[in-house]
Amino acid sequence: MDGNGRWAKARGLDRTYGHAEGVESVRACMEFAVEKGIEYLSVYAFSEENWNRPAYEVNALMELMMKAMIKETETFLKNHVRFLVLGNRARLSESINRTIDDLERSTSQDYGTTLILFVSYSGKWDILQAMKKAAAELSREDFQKMELSDFDRYLVTAGIPDPDLLIRTSGEIRISNYLLWQTAYTEFYFTDVLWPDFRKEEFAKALEAYAQRDRRYGKVK
Ligand code: FPP
Repeated sequence: MDGNGRWAKARGLDRTYGHAEGVESVRACMEFAVEKGIEYLSVYAFSEENWNRPAYEVNALMELMMKAMIKETETFLKNHVRFLVLGNRARLSESINRTIDDLERSTSQDYGTTLILFVSYSGKWDILQAMKKAAAELSREDFQKMELSDFDRYLVTAGIPDPDLLIRTSGEIRISNYLLWQTAYTEFYFTDVLWPDFRKEEFAKALEAYAQRDRRYGKVK
């Protein structure tokens, strides 16, 4: 969700205003995903690297996420959206973890779309924690026999399909330690639009571009 800071700066506002406006884009995109019957929508809200931002911004982001989760509960229920948070939750405070648990529990039934918030997440961390989990669970022999699909089960995204489309806003053209394993065959869409301006129309453009792609998965047609 890049560009929140720049969006705010361009208006002479503090970066945190950009994040608040970014939450509005999450809501708009979530509603559009529901409308389009998209089963999974993931947003990268906070990376492991984001912990290195100034304390005031980290605190403001945590506060914003907590408030948004409480405020949007009704929106999720109304739209039949299941809410999930994936990432290194051990680094999050007890109160935010409690808020996440409550929201995950109250939205776990009767859903069409799943909204995943990646928080305190990094792709390399995910691969490492998966490897450690597999090593702890499996015998030496089974660990050696592990297939690619077996490894998927240890990632935090276990049971969730790999993304078809990854949208990167604000003109950045890199993966920034996001879903490294899971994006092996994902289609990428880059736009200069800043995240707070990325609403329904921009999402529709990304879906149109995706519809033109020819996905061959390394094969010949
Ligand atoms: C990147 O923009 C954005 C973030 C690090 C935070 C995004 C998180 C939210 C909008 C909260 C969403 C929460 C819920 C519950 C829906 P940036 O700060 O890197 O902006 P810049 O690239 O312009 O500096």
